[in-house]
Amino acid sequence: MTAGELREKYLEFFKSKGHIMVPSSLLVPENDSTTLFTGSGMQPMVPYLLGEKHPLGTRIVDSQKCFRAQDIEDVGDNRHTTFFEMLGNWSFGDYFKKEQIVWMFEFLTKEIGLDPKNIYVTVFRGNEELGISRDNEAVGYWKEEFAKVGIEAKDTDFPEKNGMQDGRIFYYDETKNWWSRVGVPGNMPNGEPGGPDSEMFWDFGVELMIHENSEFKKQPCHVNCDCGRFLEIGNNVFMQYVKTEKGFELLPKGNIDFGGGLERTVAAKNNDPDIFKTDLFLPIIQKIEEISGKKYGESANAYDMRVITDHFKATTFLIADGILPSNTQQGYVLRRLIRRAIRYGHMLGINENFSVKISEVVIGIYRDSYPELEKNKSLIFSELEKEENKFRKTLEHGLAEFNKLAERGITGKDAFDLYQSYGFPFEITKELAKERGLKLNEEEFAAEFKKHQELSRTASAGMFKGGLADAGEQTKKLHTATHLLQAALRQVLGTHVSQKGSNINTERLRFDFSHPEKMTPEQIKEVEDLVNIKIKANLEIRREEMTPEEAKAQGALGVFEAKYGDKVSVYSAVGFSKEICGGPHAASTGELSHFKIVKEEASSAGVRRVKAILE
Ligand code: ALA
Repeated sequence: MTAGELREKYLEFFKSKGHIMVPSSLLVPENDSTTLFTGSGMQPMVPYLLGEKHPLGTRIVDSQKCFRAQDIEDVGDNRHTTFFEMLGNWSFGDYFKKEQIVWMFEFLTKEIGLDPKNIYVTVFRGNEELGISRDNEAVGYWKEEFAKVGIEAKDTDFPEKNGMQDGRIFYYDETKNWWSRVGVPGNMPNGEPGGPDSEMFWDFGVELMIHENSEFKKQPCHVNCDCGRFLEIGNNVFMQYVKTEKGFELLPKGNIDFGGGLERTVAAKNNDPDIFKTDLFLPIIQKIEEISGKKYGESANAYDMRVITDHFKATTFLIADGILPSNTQQGYVLRRLIRRAIRYGHMLGINENFSVKISEVVIGIYRDSYPELEKNKSLIFSELEKEENKFRKTLEHGLAEFNKLAERGITGKDAFDLYQSYGFPFEITKELAKERGLKLNEEEFAAEFKKHQELSRTASAGMFKGGLADAGEQTKKLHTATHLLQAALRQVLGTHVSQKGSNINTERLRFDFSHPEKMTPEQIKEVEDLVNIKIKANLEIRREEMTPEEAKAQGALGVFEAKYGDKVSVYSAVGFSKEICGGPHAASTGELSHFKIVKEEASSAGVRRVKAILE
């Protein structure tokens, strides 16, 4: 099945159920500064979900172009993209759970012919603190639908710990089965709509292959595990709450917000987990093969080609919607995408302009569905050409400078300066150093990078992660939480724990650290409790300046084997943690409210990764 056929079937199906079709909104939200980009179909619908009357009625259907900047780093596997199309149907206070589940089951199994045996669903487990109970109602409707096709659908809890347990319907908490524009309930500002949801997954049935030789080996497989066996294809949101000062209140009427991944559903229908082999991607991949003379089949090439494919597709759409490369906001994200794509092209040996050639293919694929591409073709091409020329000059300057430096060998600090002053990508420095047999100290580069990054993190986090008004505040708190987490991990697991990486967005923190084995549930609980005790104690966060030696003597933790300047700043949560760090941080730990670890997994050999949120 082609994506065009699937899109058509979906729109027609919901039209036959009384829905009116609306065109896709722009990728830049109109009259809404909450986020930089339209990242889901519901964003343009928020006023109607909150009760305003939609001029076309209470049932709407569309296919919305979406862009998620927060997924840039995930692109490269067989399923993640920054740009995608979301099939959407809405009930504004009209039908609710029952109709949605019945129709969705009919659409997937009858209309497009997916085998129900390979469909699994999840529902919200419920949360007493939020005052929202387990979604037994949705479970009941799913059971009825599966029963009609002769499948006894068992509902099963704690799949994240106990695996599949022969289940068909799985309960998860609000980190998985809750939807709002800003993620988990704890992040929602007052006035924001949200609700529990029910997701649908396709089973590719390749668990063994993937679990055999990977980090997932010792973990039970479940539908939300990242091993690759299951692919989420759609999400039914039961949008019936609004956050208020008093907590969650029911909206006057329940709404439906359905979002389905067009590309992913096509992949499910074709039963091939690589969405890049579907017709919305393949011609682009083939063009890259032609230009580079390399084959997609080889795994390193596949990664590079997927990044290029996704990024130039996204840039083509973004420029058509009026965004131009710049150093701020949306324009900066666009610039980053173009440069990244060129850099990955360089990895494939492509050293002359190719963005326009790729963009031409993108426009060819989407010509009929998105006429704005053809209309803005000359603008798209000229912007791409200009930006690519500029970046290739940067590369040239950087290369000349590299050649000069390389005569005496290249240090991590040199690599950073090349990056900082010329925009010369570290990966290219690394490659060149390797070609010439030069040693390059990556830790030193990372330490320099980290030092500078900390300073600009607040601003850029807001920019990449959706640009929420309070992004700065949230990032600060998560940064402070990261310090508490490291101190707690060292207390609970031992002082061999040291930082291997850290990343923060407005929703969660991610922390990589050295530790030889999976943390037990008891250890996770102990770490959480310890952090929460320190939050309750409302410790002051103090910043001091001192020499690196003094910092070391006081037991401050430093990241990597860093080469610091004469003076460093040291942040402490007084009496508990102390780290050399550029900040910024919360003023005291009490601001963090409540800390929760939502994921613990392997990152690489001997390194664990924890994701945590503040709620
Ligand atoms: N708004 C929901 C999502 O994006 C459907 O998952």
